Amino acid sequence: MVDPRTSRTRAADAQGDPELTGATAEGHGARASGCRARPRGQAVDTCAETSDTLRFLRSWRAAPLRVAAIAPSGGALAALITSEIGMHHAPVLELGPGTGVFTKALIARGLDPEALTLIELDAGFASLLRARFPQVQVLEMSAERLRVQQLFGGRKAGAAVSGLGLLSMPPRTVMAILTGTFRHLRPGAALYQFTYGPRCPVPRPMLDRLGLDAKRIGGTFRNLPPASVYRISRVSAAPQHLLPEHGR
Ligand SMILES: C[S@@+](CC[C@H](N)C(=O)[O-])C[C@H]1O[C@@H](n2cnc3c(N)ncnc32)[C@H](O)[C@@H]1O
Repeated sequence: MVDPRTSRTRAADAQGDPELTGATAEGHGARASGCRARPRGQAVDTCAETSDTLRFLRSWRAAPLRVAAIAPSGGALAALITSEIGMHHAPVLELGPGTGVFTKALIARGLDPEALTLIELDAGFASLLRARFPQVQVLEMSAERLRVQQLFGGRKAGAAVSGLGLLSMPPRTVMAILTGTFRHLRPGAALYQFTYGPRCPVPRPMLDRLGLDAKRIGGTFRNLPPASVYRISRVSAAPQHLLPEHGR
């Protein structure tokens, strides 16, 4: 279990580190120059984007399969993947937040930061997220362990957003992540998952086995690489009992 007391840091932790404060995470900011040339507010954003991209590159070089992208997602993908989520979905779960591009979009859509829980495996990203979003709960752990992790004081989430690179994970891991995620979702709630691939990253037999269905809600070319978003939800209330946690 992750101790929620150690999963938060105070805003003061981030004071004085321009990389960690008030930063935007719009993504694809790998412009070599521009930090000094732009107007003040924008300059900070551009520097933060650049440092996020460098951070991503470093993490990707260290663990390419786990990080599964060489740069943070762009603003267009963040807007798309959060487009169906609003305040009434609180609390909301986010998997694989990286530098927090989707987190920022969720907050921009009116979600109370205190109603967000982020699950991030990479220690560097987790500490960046704690500094950047001090009111958000950040759990440094694998999403594979969601099945046994207590969240939201026992409340169920109204939606989940995933930036995980499911295509580079073994099927067993994907099964564990989906099972654990849906255990924390209310009936009717969906998991929003993006992919760079041509179809849903969860294969049809696995969806069927878990009693889930996937619908593509859109795609964007304003992302590098272009990406699609799928809404994955339970086919009906009934298949809950078919989820592997009940079957094993
Ligand atoms: C493709 S990146 C996406 C990051 C961010 N959502 C974005 O779109 O810019 C995948 C993220 O998932 C994290 N990750 C990979 N495997 C994970 C796991 N098993 N549990 C939690 N996070 C994981 C990586 O560390 C990385 O931050």
